[in-house]
Amino acid sequence: MTNRHQSILGDPLIDRQHADLFASLRQIESLHERRLNDEKVIDHLTRISEQLRQHFMSEETLMQQVAVPVEEIARHHAEHLRILEEVARLHFEIMQGQLTHVSQVLRPLSDWVAAHVEVYDAPLRDYIVKASLQ
Ligand SMILES: [Fe+2]
Ligand SMILES: [Fe+2]
Repeated sequence: MTNRHQSILGDPLIDRQHADLFASLRQIESLHERRLNDEKVIDHLTRISEQLRQHFMSEETLMQQVAVPVEEIARHHAEHLRILEEVARLHFEIMQGQLTHVSQVLRPLSDWVAAHVEVYDAPLRDYIVKASLQ
């Protein structure tokens, strides 16, 4: 999981969404022994998918507001879509019974989110600071 300071970009909404997302991932970590058909687990996974979807929309709106170059927004957006597709694939594999335990889902999910925040989100900090000074 990512370092806490890496997810602090200086925008209150985005910072709160990142914190909530990492909190949800930590919560599901505590259920890692459980099977994926456990109702509590399904609720958590559904919530994380929804959090991701909403967060990506907020972040894409913010990128336009703080004047991130169009090509950079397009690259970032494509990466958001890729993560949502990966999450949809996980859901499909769960439904098919190919994945049975939380640990099988948690690792890739946490890795995708942590890597994304570090590589794609952290550079937004400079645009947010610049926009706040104008
Ligand atoms: Fe992002
Ligand atoms: Fe993000």
